[in-house]
Amino acid sequence: MKIFVTGASGFIGSHLVEKLVLKGHKVKALVPYNTENSWGWIDSFNLKIKKKIDIISGDITDQNLILKETKKCDIIFHLAALISIPYSYKSPRSYMYTNIMGTLNILEAGKINKAKKIVITSTSEVYGSAQYIPIDEKHPLNAQSPYAASKIAADQIGLSYFKSFNLPVTIIRPFNTFGPRQSQRAAIPTIISQILNNNKHIKLGNLKSSRDFTLVHDTVDGFVKTINNKKCIGQVINLGTGSHFTIGETVRLISKILKKDIKIEIDKKRIRPSKSEVDRLLSNNSKSKKILNWKPKYSGKLGFYKALEITIDWFKEPKNLKLYKSDIYNV
Ligand SMILES: NC(=O)c1ccc[n+]([C@@H]2O[C@H](COP(=O)([O-])OP(=O)(O)OC[C@H]3O[C@@H](n4cnc5c(N)ncnc54)[C@H](O)[C@@H]3O)[C@@H](O)[C@H]2O)c1
Repeated sequence: MKIFVTGASGFIGSHLVEKLVLKGHKVKALVPYNTENSWGWIDSFNLKIKKKIDIISGDITDQNLILKETKKCDIIFHLAALISIPYSYKSPRSYMYTNIMGTLNILEAGKINKAKKIVITSTSEVYGSAQYIPIDEKHPLNAQSPYAASKIAADQIGLSYFKSFNLPVTIIRPFNTFGPRQSQRAAIPTIISQILNNNKHIKLGNLKSSRDFTLVHDTVDGFVKTINNKKCIGQVINLGTGSHFTIGETVRLISKILKKDIKIEIDKKRIRPSKSEVDRLLSNNSKSKKILNWKPKYSGKLGFYKALEITIDWFKEPKNLKLYKSDIYNV
């Protein structure tokens, strides 16, 4: 099975590529072009795995490139996107262009090149603050940020291609994913890296909002389970643990694991406009269990604790920690 992965050098994409190679799939990985020839997290892979990946540089907004590079690929996992919510306030047009036109290019290429499956990566942000919990796939969509709006559009275009052209599209909707390699724009890496850099006061935004934190290995497992699965075609599927924790509770758990007494300083610039803040996200994952036979390994308080330990162990490695500029607020 030849698999094309976009966003392959990023956080979730790099874990997915590694897992696909280990499972014996042929992987073609799209990484953004840069003059340094940097392949992001792929650069940190062991040589045996790296040698097996066909790595190409390019932009998902480049229609011709995507059309050419996806030829003879059976499956497309589309993860490339602009993902930071605060940066989407600053640069909304780039989000629309990358996340919507990029997805359209993937769908068109999949249609012309007759891909057997196209998996579009959505996000729990499309639901906005939970109107009921747990959130199933029928929950109303409510964009509270330009990022969420761009992802709703991308999802809907994907579903329209399934309905209009019978294109084998699946929408995978991860809830907040965390783990090794996640960038500092997300809450958990920013908490861990600030504490590990010996800050007794850590700077954070809203502590009350809650998230369904899912370890990246579980999220990736959900993507892998779509391969050879016909039931998931034309479906939107949540990937979340079914438990949620506030940012405040998460800080307490992390400081317990690290055995550090932490004081939190609320940094106003990290607080989102109140109508844009998503207060609560908690997934109903019965559909993923039923269709994909997916069950998160790390769920509930104990699972979250263990998943945080795995993440913290990775951050403790000096070569990893030094990549994080914890004194700077990274939107
Ligand atoms: N991390 C989460 O909690 C989370 C939750 C739900 C959904 N998602 C979705 O998962 C996907 C991966 O997110 P991530 O957390 O790994 O973020 P990430 O930023 O690490 O990965 C995104 C990758 O896309 C690449 N990219 C961006 N624009 C591009 C372009 N124009 N052309 C080519 N590549 C481009 C980036 O370079 C990056 O490597 C995204 O679609 C995101 O919306 C993430």
